[in-house]
Amino acid sequence: MTSLTIRRPDDWHLHLRDGAMLAGVLPYTSRHFARAIIMPNLVPPVVTTVDARAYRDRILAAMPESHSFEPLMTLYLTEGTSPDDVEEGAKSGLITAVKLYPAGATTNSQSGVRNFENAMPVLERMARIGLPLCVHGEVTTPEVDIFDREAVFIETVLDPLRRRLPELRITMEHVTTKDGVDYIDQSETNLAGSITTHHLIINRNNILVGGIRPHYYCLPVAKREYHRQALRRAATTGNPKFFLGTDSAPHVDPLKECACGCAGCFTSINTLSCLAHVFEEEQALDRLEAFASLNGPAWYGLAPNAEKITLVKRDAPVEFPTRVETGDGPVTVFDPIFKSHWDVEG
Ligand code: NCD
Ligand code: ZN
Repeated sequence: MTSLTIRRPDDWHLHLRDGAMLAGVLPYTSRHFARAIIMPNLVPPVVTTVDARAYRDRILAAMPESHSFEPLMTLYLTEGTSPDDVEEGAKSGLITAVKLYPAGATTNSQSGVRNFENAMPVLERMARIGLPLCVHGEVTTPEVDIFDREAVFIETVLDPLRRRLPELRITMEHVTTKDGVDYIDQSETNLAGSITTHHLIINRNNILVGGIRPHYYCLPVAKREYHRQALRRAATTGNPKFFLGTDSAPHVDPLKECACGCAGCFTSINTLSCLAHVFEEEQALDRLEAFASLNGPAWYGLAPNAEKITLVKRDAPVEFPTRVETGDGPVTVFDPIFKSHWDVEG
């Protein structure tokens, strides 16, 4: 196959940041993707519908005029979040989901949830109105090894929450383990999972062997090869419970290349090229559309996009810049290690 036409994709987990960074990175998403779920972990975070509306306006103002792109807004769940505000935001169509960060789990998660009891009134309201909860599925207990944090989260937080509130629709975001894949796969209702581009490509050796590579460091951290293989199977077999959430998370290079570097891989610019390469390797190009363009909207109760995009396989590898310049400074582009020949036409 040398050309593949699919419905325009959506990104179900994206960090756009704000200000000069937003202006610098947004066009890489909006030129190919029709919609994206926008993460609310700004400083300060997007916690109320008023915050979300203002952030949405800033995103739309930063968008190139020739692009059409719909930011799907989320609220950052805190222990003080008002159920009424969440319901109003959902009913007005502004809010697509609420995001749960366990406090301390990742970049800008200090205001996240420490005591789940305090978040129950909001979660109960969300269950009642059918508003999905997007979950960063890692425990933050210092004793738990960082490579086990997802599996322990499933056992000690996610499963008990699902038993207590079975009507709550939950997206387990950026799944990184076979434990996560199996848990989602075996669930009967109200659970789905997003998978990033980079977790289909790198394992923990890529971060740590032959020198430490900060641009492969993200959270949840990439796990061992066996887990990457499970993610590949989940993404490429057409299972409707799994869909693309790139978790493209730009940080300027000085904040990545230092003694205590930030977590995040910047993939929005080459995600579709990388995914086509991965799906071709798995002899699953015919299932890329399900993963990138169909399963996500179905889960979020939205129609798939009507427009199409075409991916073409070029004779020569497609070149992407090593880094892009933003008004805040340079951001290194995710290096997939391979050279993809797949390009988006137009
Ligand atoms: C994200 C960020 O930088 O905001 N980083 C990351 O490694 N994915 C936060 C997150 O989604 O965990
Ligand atoms: Zn993220």
